[in-house]
Amino acid sequence: MLAESAYSGREQTLVKHYILREYVVRMAFKVASFCDTITYVDGFSGPWNVVSEDFSDSSFAIALNELRKAREVYRAKNRTVKLRGFFVEKNRAAYKKLKAFAETVTDAEVVTKPGTFESSIPEVVEFVKQGGTKNFTFIFIDPTGWSGFAMETIKPLLELDRVELLINFMTSHIRRFAESAHKETMESFERMFGSADFRQRIQGLRFEEKETP
Ligand SMILES: C[S@@+](CC[C@H](N)C(=O)[O-])C[C@H]1O[C@@H](n2cnc3c(N)ncnc32)[C@H](O)[C@@H]1O
Repeated sequence: MLAESAYSGREQTLVKHYILREYVVRMAFKVASFCDTITYVDGFSGPWNVVSEDFSDSSFAIALNELRKAREVYRAKNRTVKLRGFFVEKNRAAYKKLKAFAETVTDAEVVTKPGTFESSIPEVVEFVKQGGTKNFTFIFIDPTGWSGFAMETIKPLLELDRVELLINFMTSHIRRFAESAHKETMESFERMFGSADFRQRIQGLRFEEKETP
């Protein structure tokens, strides 16, 4: 694990990676007791602003390492758990690094995809299904803003068997703009939330209250 000082000036990323690490390791220990395969999908993989040479401050490497921990514990109990990853990245330069990282992984089945997360949904669904009937899927959605994961578009993922999603987004921006009268901004929130109902739910709430209506 990278020292906290490596995240200096990137405190939001530090917290995000802490949550991801803790979430994945707990999830993996639980589900590996009844699933033979764990599939990790990183929809906005990066690498993004990494400082490490081994990508240990990137979500995909963090998640893989936590999954390995669970696999090793179960291996010692004679239980085999297969790990799989599907990593999507839109930015070309970042994708090149992601692909190079994936090619070094020999103990898990890893597929990388250049392009947007939304356009990759059919492939993600197909990849998850190839994990078999005793597969568990964890999907991490970590955009830079609040677009790129429209509810209607990612619906096939929510309908998969044994799946959990963790979506990380900047609530400070969303609280600020959620009631914007600007047409494009309004539509972007409707796509994100999957309907316009959210407006009634936050109407009249104070700034801080809008986070958990
Ligand atoms: C906040 S960074 C996430 C980094 C990574 N998840 C981490 O925590 O280490 C968002 C990444 O998503 C990429 N990206 C932006 N829009 C995207 C989209 N629509 N589909 C896939 N990737 C996208 C960016 O190039 C950037 O690398």
